[in-house]
Amino acid sequence: MSSRKSRPQKRRRRSIIAFEMIRLDRTATEPLHEQLYRQIRDELKSGRFGDGSSRLPSSRALATDRGISRSTVRLALSKLHAEGYLRSKPGSGTFVANLLPETFLTADQPKTYEPIQRPIRISDRVRTIPDGRVGDQFDLGATGAGGGVSLVPSIPAVDEFPMAAWERLRAQVLAKKGVNLLRYASNRGDADLRKAIAAYLCDFRAARCHPDQIVIVAGMQQAMLVSALAMLNPGQVAWIEDPCYQQTRRVLALAGIKIIPKPLDNEGIVIARSPKETLPRIIYVTPSHQFPLGVTMSLQRRTGLLDFARAHNAFIFEDDYDAEFRFAGPPLPSLQGIDNASRVIYAGTVSKILCPSLRLGYVVAPEPLVDSLVKIRSAMDQHSSPIDQATLARFISEGFFLSHIKRMRKIYAERRDFFIKQFNELLGDHFTLQVPEAGLNIVAWLKREEEFPMIRRTTVDIGVRPSALSFFCVQAKLKPAFVFGFAAWTPTQIRESLVKLASALRDRGRNLNYGRQSR
Ligand SMILES: Cc1ncc(COP(=O)(O)O)c(C=O)c1O
Repeated sequence: MSSRKSRPQKRRRRSIIAFEMIRLDRTATEPLHEQLYRQIRDELKSGRFGDGSSRLPSSRALATDRGISRSTVRLALSKLHAEGYLRSKPGSGTFVANLLPETFLTADQPKTYEPIQRPIRISDRVRTIPDGRVGDQFDLGATGAGGGVSLVPSIPAVDEFPMAAWERLRAQVLAKKGVNLLRYASNRGDADLRKAIAAYLCDFRAARCHPDQIVIVAGMQQAMLVSALAMLNPGQVAWIEDPCYQQTRRVLALAGIKIIPKPLDNEGIVIARSPKETLPRIIYVTPSHQFPLGVTMSLQRRTGLLDFARAHNAFIFEDDYDAEFRFAGPPLPSLQGIDNASRVIYAGTVSKILCPSLRLGYVVAPEPLVDSLVKIRSAMDQHSSPIDQATLARFISEGFFLSHIKRMRKIYAERRDFFIKQFNELLGDHFTLQVPEAGLNIVAWLKREEEFPMIRRTTVDIGVRPSALSFFCVQAKLKPAFVFGFAAWTPTQIRESLVKLASALRDRGRNLNYGRQSR
């Protein structure tokens, strides 16, 4: 039997919906087509016509039936069509959709499923990242620095950002390069920017590199992640300084790297190792001035570190994050500049020189490594904003970068001197400052260790929030101290917050004494 012959038996009955319940009110402010649309929609939502075989009356029939114009009916039906309540079948008419929009809108609502009883399973990766923050604690970003005069460490003076010059150059590069800046771009980074950065690093950081060794990244954090992913398999070992930048630990944990914290002395990282200790594939250091202690790595330690890396086939990751801000002592070349064996992966960032929200940094890699770094970046997020990269290239090549660094060095030097003077005057009774040669932070050691909990509580209560040094420690057991930032605030603001802290500590001290006496 032909299939054609069997078809009439299979054909389903197409019932025409009468819409008996529709009532249109000509005196209402709601337009007639809206009333019609709403009432038909509500009838369809009742679920009585959901088998796909219900046909709507023709627009002419509906119009005649309700005593309204056909255009009013067409308006209502076209809206229902657009929202997915109706479907047209050429030559057959208009039908109720098989699946109404509500089916999709409510698909994930718990009422159709058993409520989830068990907690969502999170990867081990999330658990191993050493970061206790939850919820909106992440809204303030890595440093937890909102507005206000908090003296949180590592915050640059973003209100000194040369906004007008930046905006002008940005408009110029957009006008010149147009849509080319809107396409996917090089995974290595903007060629002009790589050229400009290579020239800057050779001149001012005594680096030895050419533009093809440079990969533009989204700041230091990504520089660390890309290098770890490119060079180490999960479970392999990286040495880090202890205490260290908290994001280094988080990034390496994310990459599945085993961390061995190494202590510091007054020359930098201590590279001596016990015979049982696993050799590192990579060593993360901040030679220009250690974060957070501020120690500048001595020349002897630098050469020792390079020798060690060469002897053990390891690499050194040099985080040169704000080497530009050196206030005392002779200028020191980068580690990369004295490396004769291609053992150093150098990385810099514009987070402190310009502003952290740009998320722009650069890696200078030994040539054989470059493609691997680029491959990781391409698998990760392709590249940084071409508009920002092109703007930064112009900003550097036209001399704005250098003059901004010079200007900021002067401002920071003044703020630093002011901070040290005021701090010693106001808080010298509680703390001893360890003044580094470079950088935007200063460590203040407690004179009386037992005061730590009281001082910590006070800083939290009054919103002056230096970081506890212990926050940056992995295994190191150092005496209690706080790391203060001074760079982001004017002298008046610095004084206000130091006065606030000093008087709060005085009040707390008085209350404690009073409590002791009255017991
Ligand atoms: C040691 C160190 N490196 C790098 C950075 C900056 O990193 P990023 O470029 O990811 O902002 C900081 C910021 O405080 C830092 O303390």
